[in-house]
Amino acid sequence: MSWGCRILKVDPERPDEASLRVAAEAIRRGGLVAFPTETVYGLGADALNPRAVKKIFEVKGRPPDNPLIVHISDWEMLGRIADEVPKAALKLARKFWPGPLTLVLKRKKVIPDEVTAGLPTVAVRMPAHEVALKLIRLSDTPIAAPSANPSGRPSPTTGSHVLRDLDCKVDVILDGGETYFGLESTIIDVTRNPPVLLRPGPIAVEDVEKALGERVMVTDESRGLSHAERPLAPGMKYRHYAPDTPVVLVDVNPSDIVTVVESAVRELNKLDWKAGLVGSTNLIWLVVGYGLRKGRMPLKIYDLGRGEKPHVAARRLYHVLRKIDEHSLPAAVVLPFPEEGIGLAVMNRLRKAASRRVSG
Ligand code: TXA
Ligand code: MG
Repeated sequence: MSWGCRILKVDPERPDEASLRVAAEAIRRGGLVAFPTETVYGLGADALNPRAVKKIFEVKGRPPDNPLIVHISDWEMLGRIADEVPKAALKLARKFWPGPLTLVLKRKKVIPDEVTAGLPTVAVRMPAHEVALKLIRLSDTPIAAPSANPSGRPSPTTGSHVLRDLDCKVDVILDGGETYFGLESTIIDVTRNPPVLLRPGPIAVEDVEKALGERVMVTDESRGLSHAERPLAPGMKYRHYAPDTPVVLVDVNPSDIVTVVESAVRELNKLDWKAGLVGSTNLIWLVVGYGLRKGRMPLKIYDLGRGEKPHVAARRLYHVLRKIDEHSLPAAVVLPFPEEGIGLAVMNRLRKAASRRVSG
């Protein structure tokens, strides 16, 4: 493992070829490269090289039973790694690739067990990011990449998050600034009938269903509501996206404003208001307004934008989860978002980040 890395700034839309060549060379030699995608930063290695893939698990402290997503740059690469591409998968790939959608497919033998944790399937996506696509192309191999954070922590959405998190334990960091969506891809298992949502993300389930012309199974697990002992996406059994600061999620239907405000105020009272408050602009100011009338204010306010625009919340979410730790607060109280569109992903991440949930 190399300790000490090259940090190369790249333009996210027109990345400099020389920098990408340095990174691709590292991949080809079995090294690790952190790179931006449209969702979050990935920690990549040659998906066909088991020794390189093992290093990803070491650097992240990731449990070996949690498989990785394989990133491809073109359709020919899909044929190299997937054994069977069912009609449903083709429909979705044609509609959403390149983009923030991961498909679970039957794997070919070339994909080592280290990548799939021994499963007969492989998770694949074609990212919509010039840096990622060119890196894969120049490396001329599919790239296995989890999010570039230590296991269990919020995913990195900027190059400096990666540097702070991984402390240069990789060969190259391609710093392409801030990622676009700020949340990990939607994962659909198309080996099952009906297809199953394994992780909500930027591509809304509603849009997946429209493209498929059939319903997708949305389990409690994928909403972040339960922890199966053997979940369909093995990563879902672990606590995730979590800051060190205790996070209390008010897990109440956000349109039930009275219950939201009452529950939040009760939690803040328990903490003597020595807490941060996170949520949509509208709900935050209702809670703050209530507090002010009693002469109380939360220590810090983290505004995730208007509740009816959950993509803004998605983009800010991991920044805020990181800020909460930087500000060394005793706790944070988080208000709910509607579970529509990318809002389903926002609530899934919040439930997994929460140390406690209150439901009214
Ligand atoms: O947006 C993203 O998907 C980012 C960027 C870097 O592409 N990657 C990402 O990877 O979020 P990671 O490792 O943090 O999450 C991968 C998830 C895990 O929950 C894992 O269990 C699941 O995908 N997964 C991977 N292979 C699978 C498989 N064969 N069957 C079911 N779940 C799988
Ligand atoms: Mg991750």
